[in-house]
Amino acid sequence: TEQDNEGLTNEYKELVCSLPKERGWRTQNLYLYQGFWCQPNEIQATMSAQKHFQAHDSDLMVVSVPKSGTTWLKALTFAIMNREKYDVAKSHPLHFSNPHELVPFLEYKLYADNKIPDLSHIPRPRLLATHIPLGSLPGSIRSSKCKMVYICRNPFDTFVSAWHFINKIRPASYGPLGIEDAFNMYCRGVVGFGPYWDHMLGYWYESLTKPDKVLFLKYEDMKENPDYYIKKLALFLGWPFTLQEEKTGVVQEIGNLCSFKNLRDLEVNKKGKGAIADFENKNLFRKADVGDWVNHFTPMMVQRLAHIMEEKLSGSGLSF
Ligand code: A3P
Repeated sequence: TEQDNEGLTNEYKELVCSLPKERGWRTQNLYLYQGFWCQPNEIQATMSAQKHFQAHDSDLMVVSVPKSGTTWLKALTFAIMNREKYDVAKSHPLHFSNPHELVPFLEYKLYADNKIPDLSHIPRPRLLATHIPLGSLPGSIRSSKCKMVYICRNPFDTFVSAWHFINKIRPASYGPLGIEDAFNMYCRGVVGFGPYWDHMLGYWYESLTKPDKVLFLKYEDMKENPDYYIKKLALFLGWPFTLQEEKTGVVQEIGNLCSFKNLRDLEVNKKGKGAIADFENKNLFRKADVGDWVNHFTPMMVQRLAHIMEEKLSGSGLSF
């Protein structure tokens, strides 16, 4: 616990220690904060953002369940918004920077380490990101006209992606996290910003009641029909493609720029570090397949997660 709480101020240490806790995936413990399991540093940053972040009507937020396509959606959103400013064929920022550097997280970057950042220098519209669940968002995000694009993914694949990722980044001294162990925690919702079904349902219902405010996207849909979703995203954000752009292949150009293969093979993403916390960028790119879970799930695991999803999602209209 002491190691987890190292960067915390005394005020937050006390608060975190008063919360229910469980063993974590890459920190010693996860704590239940406002209904979701978070690392101590995420709780401190979330609370700091709740206190200090002032959303503007023109802000755009990329919001996601961890390991559900955040990097991809950040790249697409950035490329769509900035398509007049940068030439894809030449020196586009996505050639040299990881998407997480271009679209910073509130909790891992801007408000990390108990910072109170000055965001006034960021040109508007500001493009920011977060994993914070709907109910814990800084109030002004919800009360302003700022828009949110949300991505989630089939919980089967999200689990597999999270499990691989965590084993790459967790401290070596913890040893590997076995898949059964991880799966038990995941099913109980004990995973960073989990339970994931609650995370998704929060934004799902918000997108139904406020379709102009929240665009709800699924990784699988986007993989199947990227052009359609790139256009939808652009329209929602307020930068629809012109007919001329569509004719000249700008949609496909953005799709290719942000594709898994293109981003994965860039120098910055093979060798770079530190786009999120101190991770190596290459760990953000693994397989990007839909349905990779079949290579990892036993029949018992399938049954258990399918049952949970049925219980949690039935009647909501959200399905995978
Ligand atoms: P896999 O582990 O299944 O390969 P996040 O960006 O939210 O951390 O999600 C990570 C997942 O998205 C990983 O899935 C990763 O490979 C995949 N991914 C990363 N970049 C992508 C891109 N440009 N297009 C599609 N998927 C991408």
